[in-house]
Order: sequence, then structure tokens, then C-alpha cells
Amino acid sequence: MSSTAITDSPAPWLRDNCPCGACRDPRNGQKLFQITDLPAGLSVGSVREVSGAAGTAAGAGWEVVWEPDGHRSLYPADWLDAHAPGGPRGTGGDGRTEADKELWAAADLAGRLPGASWDAYIGDRSVRIQALESVRRLGFALLRDVPRRDRMVLDVAATFGFVRRTNYGELFEVRVEPDPNNLAFTGALITPHTDNPYRDPVPTVQLLHCLRNEARGGDSGLVDGFHAAALLRREDPRAFDVLTRVPVEFTFTDARTELRAQRPLIDVDPLGRIREIRFNNRSIGTLHESAPVLEEFYAAYRRFGELLLRPELRLDFRLTPGDCLIFDNTRLLHARTAFAESGARHLQGAYADLDGLGSALAVLRRDGAAA
Ligand code: OGA
Ligand code: ZN
Ligand code: ZN
Repeated sequence: MSSTAITDSPAPWLRDNCPCGACRDPRNGQKLFQITDLPAGLSVGSVREVSGAAGTAAGAGWEVVWEPDGHRSLYPADWLDAHAPGGPRGTGGDGRTEADKELWAAADLAGRLPGASWDAYIGDRSVRIQALESVRRLGFALLRDVPRRDRMVLDVAATFGFVRRTNYGELFEVRVEPDPNNLAFTGALITPHTDNPYRDPVPTVQLLHCLRNEARGGDSGLVDGFHAAALLRREDPRAFDVLTRVPVEFTFTDARTELRAQRPLIDVDPLGRIREIRFNNRSIGTLHESAPVLEEFYAAYRRFGELLLRPELRLDFRLTPGDCLIFDNTRLLHARTAFAESGARHLQGAYADLDGLGSALAVLRRDGAAA
């Protein structure tokens, strides 16, 4: 590395990243100044290479003395290697977009559902890392032999994050109810959907823990919504574009609740990469757009709906008691076949979030590397 990594860097960016103890609290790494505290017209006064401890790279880097205030910064060489402007990280995603996922169709996962037994997940750090990584990369993991205890789903969520409490409670009972406020709580077939699209922010992780499944029917299905959206983009780019731009109102109403959120069916990041899917025929509301926009939207919506029903995209399986499915509710759509209401079927569900899961995974990896 030469000093050009320093001289080619925009001065405010470089200064904003000064690691010195006056710029960042050494106890927690938090920044101690505002962008408005930096002198106007900052420039690098002088640059000097600093060598590391004898025979190693540790401590090697570049010292900058700034104009006009004479502040001194020492940038480690490995930090510059990793972060210098124009490097590969610049186009990396935030871990949430299609750029960081492995898109799948049913055949890609047949016979190899990602997951682990509960005991291994709890007892073995590498198994836990693998399961959580599956949620990030494939959108889900299936834990087996999770104790069939009431409220156990909350303990599962606590292994990687924080339960998101909603109007359905801390957890929700998925079983036949006498006066259901949601079709999930009947024996009806449920087509592929994401949960709670009428919520913003939407719960980004969902858990379903199977306590009993003796009913005829009630099999599960998962569809990779990112894969479906990528297919739509290839087959009908105009429809894809419409679904990323038209805000869709989703609503949920019951005796105590009146929720609404307006988001597109396919959300993309600033580079146009697929980042979030919302799709739920039960709770889509009335759109208020001009007639031509409505025509276009409905044609595109139908197209995407047809695509999501392609059998080759849908991974079918049956939850057995003790299974706990953990999935990315911003990406995967879940479904179930109808079941006979006379048979016993009982799941407990809960919501959590991907940011907490990502943090748990990073800490497991960091502690693993330090061990
Ligand atoms: C739900 C749901 C699926 C099932 O509760 O959100 O979609 O298998 N349930 O009952
Ligand atoms: Zn500093
Ligand atoms: Zn659901």
C-alpha cells in the first residue's frame, strides 16, 4: 500500500474515520464529535508511513497531520486495505438483499431442509451458527425435537433475538378458534403469504412451533419470494418495475385493532436489488391510484401471484410435533393446505427480527474466533 490510499481519499471521509482517542471514546468506540465540528476546508497536511512492531504488521499504518487544525490521525494499514474508497465493500449489500442470498426452488432443497436438532442447536456453537446462517442465506431453518412445551416458541426466539409482541400477543395460537379474527385460526387452506404486511415495520422473523399435528391435511409450504421476484424481473421487467413502485395498502381490523401500512409488494434497495416482499391476499386493501396505474398494477400483481403458485417453487413438507420453523418474513412466503377441523392441530407462533438474529450470529462467530 502506498500513500495514495490516503491522498486519494476525500478528506472529510478520512477525518470522520479517525480512530484516535479524542475522536472516539476508547471504551466503546463511539464517535465524540459531530460532522459540523470538523473544520471547513479540511485537507491532509502531511502523510508519513509508520512501521509496525519489529517483524510484524501490527501497528503499521499511515500518520496524517491535518490542515488547518493540526489534528493527528493514525490509520492502520489493514483498516485502509479493507475500507479505502472504491473497494469491493462499496457495492456489497447490507445482508438483506438478493445479493447476499442463495435463491432456491423446491428441487434445490428437496431432501436437505436446512436445520438441526434442538439439542445440537443448543449444545454446539457451530450448529447454531449454521442454523442461523441458513435463515440468512436460504431464508429459513427447521429445528427438530424442540420440547413440546407451552410457550417454548418464546425460548426458541430468545436464543437469537427478541420477541416482537403484537396485537396477537407475545405469542399466538394457530389452531381452530370459535370466533377467528384471522383465517389462520380456522382449518382453511392458506395460500403463500407473508405475515403482518399491515405493520410497518413488519416483523422480519417468524417462528412456528408445532405442538400437535394429527389432523388430515395441514401440510406446510414455503416459497422463496426473492427467487419469484427475480423470475418476474426476467420474464416481465415492466411488471417487476410496477410492483416496486406502486404503494399498496394492507389493513387489519378487529374489535381492538386498526392497523394499516403502505408499502410496495417488492421493495428494492437503492441499487435496485430485491430486499423485501409483502404479499398477502387476505389483508391487501383498496388501492387509490389513477385508472391507468391500477390497470398496470393489477396485471403485474396477477402475474406475480401466478408465479408464486408455480409448483416447482413451492417446497412442501409436513411439520411434525417438536418442529420449530424459523423464517425470514421479508423474503419467504408460507402456506398450508386445508385441514379437517375435527383433527387436533396446534402451532404456537411468535415474531422476532433479523437485526437481532444478525447480531447473535456475529457475536457467536466473534466469540468462536476468540475461543
Ligand atoms: C400463520 C400461518 C400456517 C399454518 O399462522 O401465520 O400462516 O401452518 N399459519 O397454520
Ligand atoms: Zn482523531
Ligand atoms: Zn402466516
